[in-house]
Amino acid sequence: MSVESRFESVLEAICQDTEQEDVWLEMLSQLEFAGCRKIVKAVPFERVNTGVLQHIMEEASHAFLLRSLVRDREEGWATNPLTEAGWEYFQRLDHSVSVLEGSGYSYPVVAWVIERRVLELYPLYLKHTQRAGVRSIVTRILAQEKGHSESFGHGDFAPELRARAIETEAELWDAFVGRLEAWALGSVRLGASLPLSTNLQIG
Ligand SMILES: [Fe+2]
Ligand SMILES: [Fe+2]
Repeated sequence: MSVESRFESVLEAICQDTEQEDVWLEMLSQLEFAGCRKIVKAVPFERVNTGVLQHIMEEASHAFLLRSLVRDREEGWATNPLTEAGWEYFQRLDHSVSVLEGSGYSYPVVAWVIERRVLELYPLYLKHTQRAGVRSIVTRILAQEKGHSESFGHGDFAPELRARAIETEAELWDAFVGRLEAWALGSVRLGASLPLSTNLQIG
């Protein structure tokens, strides 16, 4: 079965279970925050223009909107059963693709390759979620994600960099989907935690 079909099947299963969907939503919110923080850290002061500020603002608002669906305002985040899998996908992708870039300025290519995935993920989530509140928020987010993808020139990078970024992301995505399946379809349930891998710092 292709990774796309596996992902759609596991997402469909998650959307049948409110507790699991809450965990999924919270992990998405945490990843939107990680994306926002990546921009803040990666873009040097003299390159911060209105486009960069808009991107930071919109990614922060995605984290806020998704979080508002699942958690009380005052509560801080805790790791949930998907946090580590999501964080690992993001952090490894950031490190691996930044190395490929070579110039020390990896923001556009990392952001672009993630946006590619996001533009597949959110439409599939919209297709399967049965929650009207989620649908309304994810529709708003998706409209902005399309704008982000356009702002990176639809991936107009050197062909080799582009190809290797796509390949690296696909491998990490495959691993992420495997962990999603282990959690959602296996015996690991809410409140439990997947084993921690080494060298991963969350937060
Ligand atoms: Fe986003
Ligand atoms: Fe985005």
